Amino acid sequence: MRKIPEISQLIDILYQTKQIVVLTGAGISAESGIPTFRGEEGLWKQYRAEDLATPIAFIKDPKLVWEWYDWRRGIIASKKPNAGHKILGRWEKIFPNFILITQNIDGLHQKAGSKNILELHGNIWKVRCTEERTITENHDIPLEEIPPHCPDCGALLRPHVVWFGESLSSSVLYKAFQVSSSCEIIFSIGTSAVVQPAASLPLAAAEANAKIVEINPDPTPLTSYADFSFRGKAGEILPLINKELNKKLKDRKE
Ligand code: OAD
Repeated sequence: MRKIPEISQLIDILYQTKQIVVLTGAGISAESGIPTFRGEEGLWKQYRAEDLATPIAFIKDPKLVWEWYDWRRGIIASKKPNAGHKILGRWEKIFPNFILITQNIDGLHQKAGSKNILELHGNIWKVRCTEERTITENHDIPLEEIPPHCPDCGALLRPHVVWFGESLSSSVLYKAFQVSSSCEIIFSIGTSAVVQPAASLPLAAAEANAKIVEINPDPTPLTSYADFSFRGKAGEILPLINKELNKKLKDRKE
């Protein structure tokens, strides 16, 4: 296993930190086999977001939009959490104040044991009634009916996800900014850091003197603000950090 010198500096800080925030994006699920959005192989290279992920697209052609989500649900359902998801699940148990903020809708963090999660962009396993706005879980693969309808009122159901041109849940967003601006360290893992308002969370943390740790194989607009920039895959870097952290925790017990 390779050794990165900055990791020991990071562990010294992590060890004394009381409030840790982790922001994740599609890159943390890439090693589970779920496509990211940007980049050469990204979903937005193959599909037009305006045809599939906007309120207008849904009004125009709910069947097409649901077929696309049904296809993505099929891909996601067959995937498992990777080492990165699992380590973040464990950190929640180690650190007393640990909050995970994710832009991902795939539910893999929950599958890996994370509980304290703020889902900024919703969850692909939830559906919302377009009339009553009630939210329910739905894990059918494939969906029994496309587009699906509300069993209570018969109105169209939509994926409980945030589309382009829509606002994020104000309560989730408020909490995300609140925890980010009161944390001591914020990780930005597997996100291109270009989609707002998520991209501003690490900057809000830094303004309140938190350290920024970025894990990404490629540079992003956040990289120049990062105190620690680990250029690699989440499923490789997080185990390296975790290994050193475990050593330090073991030393403390002895
Ligand atoms: P992107 O697809 O924009 O960015 C994925 C990032 O992950 C890139 O910076 C990659 O370099 C990085 N990456 C790839 N493999 C990685 C790995 N193994 N480990 C770590 N990083 C890796 O995805 P997001 O930043 O999540 O919104 O995109 C933000 C939002 O844009 C998404 O939530 C989605 C999309 O449109 C909605 O659907 C509302």
